[in-house]
Amino acid sequence: MAKRKVLKFPDERLRRISKKVTEFDEELAELLDDMRETMYANDGMGLAAPQVGVPIRALVMDVGGNFFELINPEIINAEGEQVDEEGCLSVGKFNDIVKRPSKVTIKAQDRLGYHYEITGEKYFARCVCHEIDHLDGILFIDKSEHGKEFKEKFGKK
Ligand code: NI
Repeated sequence: MAKRKVLKFPDERLRRISKKVTEFDEELAELLDDMRETMYANDGMGLAAPQVGVPIRALVMDVGGNFFELINPEIINAEGEQVDEEGCLSVGKFNDIVKRPSKVTIKAQDRLGYHYEITGEKYFARCVCHEIDHLDGILFIDKSEHGKEFKEKFGKK
């Protein structure tokens, strides 16, 4: 395993739409192991592959001490609403308020390609929505209360 470099806003590579994973091979396993190590080394709750410069639909998360790996995740149901603070390893010290669903059901695959579904609330729902946004080139500052000001200040001029 090795730590990888986390891309920081306003790096344009964070804005790419990531591709679906079709090969569940050794390269994917290695990437996921590296992402796990990189996330923990940076005290993150989640990390998406595009954040380490690999534009594929894969993410890792740690919610309440439980580790998750989601490949090709899709939100198949979202309900309720929660409003809370969020941060991101690609944004740095800026935290801000974002509205998210309070409960979501996700369809995904594991590192071997097996399909599964998972339903979660609270932090799980917040985190998985944040990470899936990364796969579509979306950052929390695109949705947060003061994100516009942040982008004006620190974005590419
Ligand atoms: Ni993030």
